[in-house]
Amino acid sequence: MSKRIAVYPGSFDPIHNGHLDIVEKCRRVFDEVILAVLGNEAKEPVFSLADRVEMIAHQLGDCPDCTVTSFDGLLVDFMEQSKAQIIIRGLRAVSDFEYEFQMALMNRRLNPAIETVFMVPREEYIYLSSRLVKEVFFLGGNLAGLVPDPILERLAEVAKARGRRPTGESL
Ligand code: PNS
Repeated sequence: MSKRIAVYPGSFDPIHNGHLDIVEKCRRVFDEVILAVLGNEAKEPVFSLADRVEMIAHQLGDCPDCTVTSFDGLLVDFMEQSKAQIIIRGLRAVSDFEYEFQMALMNRRLNPAIETVFMVPREEYIYLSSRLVKEVFFLGGNLAGLVPDPILERLAEVAKARGRRPTGESL
């Protein structure tokens, strides 16, 4: 039987515990998981593409069946290059559904051999998003237990480079 390879695509700006929980769930179901990071300059990411890939690699550690890489262009093209059949997306709330449903149907239209599988993170992460992580961090909120410590340290470096304390005050 061929290997079941799943691709978990996203901006991951930055990765948080909700994402890592999905990776753990994928590992139980698939033979291999590839985290595929999109540059997404239109979203004006806080972290460069190289930094996001490096931060994720650090979080994955020596996980034997997980890899991280960047991609550009169409996700279905990346899937084909990676010989992967399954797209993983995290589904948190009803508000995610419309956007996710559109993407799943468009990806199926572009390549009917590819399936999208939705995974639901643990309840404690269900409201978590990278956008909220950045907003709360830069306004000085406590993210302990929601974001790995090394990622919090990187966020602090960004805050410092921007001349801001994590509380949002100017230095
Ligand atoms: O974490 P995000 O920003 O919600 O992830 C969105 C992502 C990267 C999955 C989506 O923008 C994507 O797949 N982009 C690649 C370009 C593409 O294939 N677009 C058509 C999707 S139907």
